[in-house]
Amino acid sequence: MKSVAELIKGHRSIRAYTGQSITTEQLDAILAAAQQAPSSSFLQAVTIIRITDKALREKIMLLAAEQPYITAAAEFLLFCADFHRHQQLVPEAKTGFVEQLLIGATDAAMMGQNALVTAESLGLGGVYIGAVRNHPAEIGDLLGLPDLVIPLFGLCLGYPAQDPQLKPRLPRALVVHENQYQPGNKALVEQYDNEMRAYYAARTSNNKDQGWTSQIRGILSKEARPFMLDYLQQKGFCKK
Ligand SMILES: Cc1cc2nc3c(=O)[nH]c(=O)nc-3n(C[C@H](O)[C@H](O)[C@H](O)COP(=O)(O)O)c2cc1C
Repeated sequence: MKSVAELIKGHRSIRAYTGQSITTEQLDAILAAAQQAPSSSFLQAVTIIRITDKALREKIMLLAAEQPYITAAAEFLLFCADFHRHQQLVPEAKTGFVEQLLIGATDAAMMGQNALVTAESLGLGGVYIGAVRNHPAEIGDLLGLPDLVIPLFGLCLGYPAQDPQLKPRLPRALVVHENQYQPGNKALVEQYDNEMRAYYAARTSNNKDQGWTSQIRGILSKEARPFMLDYLQQKGFCKK
């Protein structure tokens, strides 16, 4: 059996599934692991919505960049930041702070990763779906999300029907600094661009001739969901 460290180092997103179901026991283990994640101020500011209804999953798939693995996955979990529960319990609660969005997002990320690592330990694979934020209001309407509840990301889970290569990460020295923030290191980035170009050229599906810098230039030259601030404020987040 792999150690937790080995398991985590072997992570690849899995976007193709065999169709085999996830058992109740496996799902229970995944959800228990998600719930045992650390939580900022122990607010537990997250709700997970398990999408079991096929037609609903199809609608979410269409709203989330039509990514087919959303409907193909054995399970699809939607992680939402949730301060509605707190406000129901404590009507005088002060809400609307940007800080609370950060709390909900960081709590959800930790829960999601506990869920994914646990799924991987059971022989399953998965991929997060940030594209649920392409149309958060429409997805919120489908799921009846009240004020102070917003979709952050989905998680597709299932038995892997693909065996992708590990995707190389930035050189450690660029990401881990000691005591003081370090200036960028062009030579290390170039080395990484070459490594990524080789990875993209060699990988079995969706291969391309691209380095990391050109990839992020493409992403960052477009606006990033510019509707988000309005949406968050409509839902009661980020007012102050
Ligand atoms: C919050 C989050 C949202 C993501 N959203 C998507 C998505 O919508 N579609 C997708 O195919 N992959 C998505 N991914 C997966 C990333 O593309 C993937 O983790 C990254 O390319 C690294 O590849 P790896 O996970 O195989 O190592 C997302 C990952 C994270 C953490």
